[in-house]
Amino acid sequence: MLNLVLFGPPGAGKGTQSQKLSTGDLLRSEISQGTELGLEAKKLMDQGILVPDEVVIGMISHKLDSNKDAKGFIFDGFPRTVAQAEALDSLLETKNAPISGMIALEVNDAELEHRLLLRGKDSGRPDDANPEVIRKRIKEYNDKTAPVAEFYKNQNKFKGINGVGTEEDVFKAICAIVDSY
Ligand code: AP5
Ligand code: MG
Repeated sequence: MLNLVLFGPPGAGKGTQSQKLSTGDLLRSEISQGTELGLEAKKLMDQGILVPDEVVIGMISHKLDSNKDAKGFIFDGFPRTVAQAEALDSLLETKNAPISGMIALEVNDAELEHRLLLRGKDSGRPDDANPEVIRKRIKEYNDKTAPVAEFYKNQNKFKGINGVGTEEDVFKAICAIVDSY
């Protein structure tokens, strides 16, 4: 089984590069279905704030259980806190299928803001529409998510790549790492 964490700040290109298990997409699906979980999550997401660890860990656990035959998972936007990374290791331990590696897309803040504002013109995502919320998301990333890279560095599982360039260039760099596993 190959389990990858695709990592990077808001707008780095995680979603573009992967057909994946995205916690952002799972949460937006809860919102569109109007579930109670979705309503609670929306309040935080619209402000660019992370939703509570228990909520996302529960969603991931459920997804892993309902895809028992999968050959592996690419996690996009998860884990986003050290607590989530620890919970993921425990979940995968019960399945004897640890994380193979983390691939981090490295993109500077100015480029992130530029990409997200551009997408915000027609994406309909409230958290893309407002420069203040975009900056809040980047701050949440720096405060709570960046330490997750250290967690995987300590396990010798971290690989950083340049996320600036054409989508194809970035994809090639990802494939080279995946091939090495
Ligand atoms: P989520 O949906 O995961 O959003 P995000 O990580 O903040 O950022 P994006 O998905 O916008 O960025 P991306 O890296 O996927 O880039 P993309 O490919 O889209 O999360 C949303 C919210 O949900 C969070 O703020 C939080 O509230 C909550 N949440 C989610 N997971 C959570 C968790 N685990 N714990 C707690 N809360 C959680 O690309 C961005 C743009 O750039 C696109 O327009 C794209 O076309 C463009 N682009 C991509 N690649 C390139 C390139 N190479 N060159 C130029 N443009 C490019
Ligand atoms: Mg995404």
